Amino acid sequence: MSWQLVNNDRNEEQLLVNESLFALGNGFLGVRGNFEEGYSDEKKSVRGTYINAFHDSTEITYGEKLHAFPETQQKLLNVIDSQTILMTINGRQVQAGEAVTMERTLDMERGLSIRVLSWHDEEAGKTTVTFKRLVSFTVKELFVQQVEIETEREASVHISMAVNGDVSNFSDPDDPRVASGHAKRLTIEQVDAGDILSVTCRTYESALSVHCSSKSAISVPAERTVSSGEGRAEEAYSYTSSGKAVLTRWSMYTDTYRHGDQLEQTAARLLSECGSFTEAEEAQHEYLKAFWKDTLLEIEGDPELQQGIRFNLFHLLQSAGRDAVSNIPAKGLSGEGYEGHYFWDTEIYMFPFFLMTRPDTARQLLKYRFSLLNAAKKRAREVGHTKGALFPWRTISGGECSAFFPAGTAQYHISADIAYSFIQYYLVTGEKAFLREYLTELLTETARLWMDTGHMKDGVFRIDDVTGPDEYTCIVNNNFYTNAMAQYNLKWAAACWELLEAKDAQALNQKLELEEGEIAAWKEAAERMYLPYDEKLGIHAQDDTFLQKKVWDLAATPKEKFPLLLHYHPLTLYRYQVCKQADTVLAHFLLEDTADEATMKHSYEYYEKVTTHDSSLSYCVFSMMAARHGDVEKAYRYFIETARLDIDNTHQNTKDGLHLANMGGTWLALVYGFAGMRVKESGLLFRPVLPKAWKSMSFRIRWREALLEVQLEKELVRYEALEGSLTFKHHDETISLKLGDTEEIPLRLS
Ligand code: BGC
Repeated sequence: MSWQLVNNDRNEEQLLVNESLFALGNGFLGVRGNFEEGYSDEKKSVRGTYINAFHDSTEITYGEKLHAFPETQQKLLNVIDSQTILMTINGRQVQAGEAVTMERTLDMERGLSIRVLSWHDEEAGKTTVTFKRLVSFTVKELFVQQVEIETEREASVHISMAVNGDVSNFSDPDDPRVASGHAKRLTIEQVDAGDILSVTCRTYESALSVHCSSKSAISVPAERTVSSGEGRAEEAYSYTSSGKAVLTRWSMYTDTYRHGDQLEQTAARLLSECGSFTEAEEAQHEYLKAFWKDTLLEIEGDPELQQGIRFNLFHLLQSAGRDAVSNIPAKGLSGEGYEGHYFWDTEIYMFPFFLMTRPDTARQLLKYRFSLLNAAKKRAREVGHTKGALFPWRTISGGECSAFFPAGTAQYHISADIAYSFIQYYLVTGEKAFLREYLTELLTETARLWMDTGHMKDGVFRIDDVTGPDEYTCIVNNNFYTNAMAQYNLKWAAACWELLEAKDAQALNQKLELEEGEIAAWKEAAERMYLPYDEKLGIHAQDDTFLQKKVWDLAATPKEKFPLLLHYHPLTLYRYQVCKQADTVLAHFLLEDTADEATMKHSYEYYEKVTTHDSSLSYCVFSMMAARHGDVEKAYRYFIETARLDIDNTHQNTKDGLHLANMGGTWLALVYGFAGMRVKESGLLFRPVLPKAWKSMSFRIRWREALLEVQLEKELVRYEALEGSLTFKHHDETISLKLGDTEEIPLRLS
């Protein structure tokens, strides 16, 4: 059961949710889980096909526009639709209506979705129509569908399919989390209906083109007709037969970013190379076998949670961009929420999974960010900085896309988050070339931002007027998270120049032109970074004023008032001690050497009481820190919230797309939470614990040349080097394993 997600509901609300849950993708292309034939009764649908990073620019209109507010925004576009397959059997339309039984499965082991409709037709007898579809992991441009039509007696069948370029994005003016306008952004450039159906469209502003070519084949003799018009190319098959007929349909997507001006040619070539549906299915299965083998992640004792874990990892894999122009949208490629933008979600919540299991993808994600360094420098100048790089809060191709600066541009911490992930990559891989080619430059430019943003006063380095991760507390002085992350950024920027070989340092200096005393100033700012602390509570204060505010009465707030952001003006929220998500507690997770144990524990306990978890980025952090402080059962309860958040639609907006950061958080909560893993300057560390409900938990991670398997059982932990050799710590004990070595250690009941 845990390899599959089954949901046969057909009420409007769940159908919309299922469009996200059953979405298929491969990091380049994403197709929502819409029905080929659409819904009956005009039920609402967000019919969507997306290409990662394929966007248009739209104007932002402000009531009052101040200096350096972004003028345009980028929007991931719903592109050409090739999902449609309509069918009549003996003149009656095939639709998953009430009279029909429907079984719908997402198969995460094999990477496809299957929908079986069956009913009794008076003339044709028992009738079954099976739709299968997959978005290929091995040919990224390919979306392939197969329909099996089986009738007991002879029936006349008519099938029609379309490639439709006349598409729009979804909009909802009342929800800040989805777009409010600019729905139609594509013009039709070309439509052809011959052996192949093809449509090319172009964006209004960003001058990008997208193309889809589609071909089909049917297993029974049938008459084929084609037609075209209004941005659509169509084909139809008619046949009369009994028994089984199989239709296969291959659709290839190309775009300017990846295929230059060879859109149609590339699609035609790729179509000519396509094998059967079974071959595509096999290739998909092979790819996923390797993925599941490398990550393993199994728990024994709870099939529902295991299903949630698989589901979340599967969607992470489906969503991660693997090329120079793309990253991981906050909603993956499963919906239009947050308009396909990339946030800090990638670096802090999702990147670790890729870093420890698929370092090539991790590297690509960092290279994408690095490619935006010049845009980040430009943005810093616009905002008023004389030096450094300020990464945009949300973006696709580098421009700041947040129109609400208090919870957007002001989240300067994103620059330190990106720096943090670059450092983590270096710690895990130890790649000297990475230090030379990417790390030092990125850290230098972000360190310069902190020097230009902060200032020394009364012997301490302060950073004023920024917003930390908690979006219910905006524009504050000395947000602990930001200051601690900036401190780490500055310290490492200085360290990089010392780690570089002299000739490399010299070469890089030609480009970056370090000023006299610049590195010393970074070190001094890091050493004297002000980290607000409250003596009475024994905790780090979230910022200079947070603890002076009135505490929001969460217990007295009616359930329907959550998430608070949809019911209270931001200023009301800002005036209270109330957090949308982990902030100080997250800093303690990322930088556990910045504070002592007692402070971290008290902070965890204090902030837990004022946190709503209105953002899905919160539970996993509290889960990890609960485990860190020995409250394993609490950690387990928080973990349940992350593992099934989308499957159970607990945030009630899964219809707009999946919560990818939370999905990364599921992996974090297991590996960094229960297994207590940390990547530290001193190396790899584990402090494992296991929730009572589980018999065991196992996972695999890569560390340099090694592949390590970790198995937690009730009373012991087993470490095994499956590839290479490595040294790490289990609490204070140093363990060295050579290929094939296994070490078993009793679990500490902390
Ligand atoms: C969270 C942010 C997050 C964004 C995108 C917001 O609700 O508060 O931290 O980056 O969603 O997931």
